[in-house]
Amino acid sequence: DRSIKIAPSILSADFADFGREIQAIEAQGADWVHVDVMDGHFVPNLTFGPPLCKAIRPHIKTVMDVHLMISPVDQYIDAYAEAGADVITAHLEAGPHIHRTLQAIRGAGCKAGLALNPGTGIEQIDYLLDQLDLICVMTVNPGFGGQKFIHSQIDKVRKLRAMIGDRPIHIEIDGGITPETAPLMAAAGADVLVAGSAVFKGGSVTNPDVYGRNITAI
Ligand code: DX5
Ligand code: ZN
Repeated sequence: DRSIKIAPSILSADFADFGREIQAIEAQGADWVHVDVMDGHFVPNLTFGPPLCKAIRPHIKTVMDVHLMISPVDQYIDAYAEAGADVITAHLEAGPHIHRTLQAIRGAGCKAGLALNPGTGIEQIDYLLDQLDLICVMTVNPGFGGQKFIHSQIDKVRKLRAMIGDRPIHIEIDGGITPETAPLMAAAGADVLVAGSAVFKGGSVTNPDVYGRNITAI
């Protein structure tokens, strides 16, 4: 079995105590820290930007996985790279020049991720595969934590896994991951699972179930 990475999303963490929350999830075995940037334009919610990413970077010992739910994207890439992002993921739907956006992310020294909303197919990413390191499959409509997993995306993950072949591309699943849905996505071919509310349930840190037998044993 492939070892699945867990990437807790700090969107569901205590916004008044990110440093402590990040230290706690990393102590519990988090592999990546998923940072949900929202601009109140591409998605109907507003979270944080480069200054917060810069402030939390020293607390992250693992990987800072920045998910940009913003549009336009290109003019902000350097700011997130300078803030310390290891992975920067942009949405295919955020603009007309996604090929250039992915090139700019790699040009800024970060791993390039492409996020696909639940309604977006995979037929238009053939010419992007050589420009990306990660594909983030949204299993909720972006903007909020605690939403219900959209099961139709399991088929998308299977098709992506086949399309990727032996290219070094990670498939990340984002939204509605729980001990129940995690195994489904792991079996479909996912490499990284984002979990916000399942980890920070009730606004406090970590739910051992997410790290328990359900996921790490996959
Ligand atoms: C939604 C974000 C997700 C979200 C996941 O727009 O991109 O990362 O925080 O939260 P849960 O795991 O609660 O669905
Ligand atoms: Zn996200």
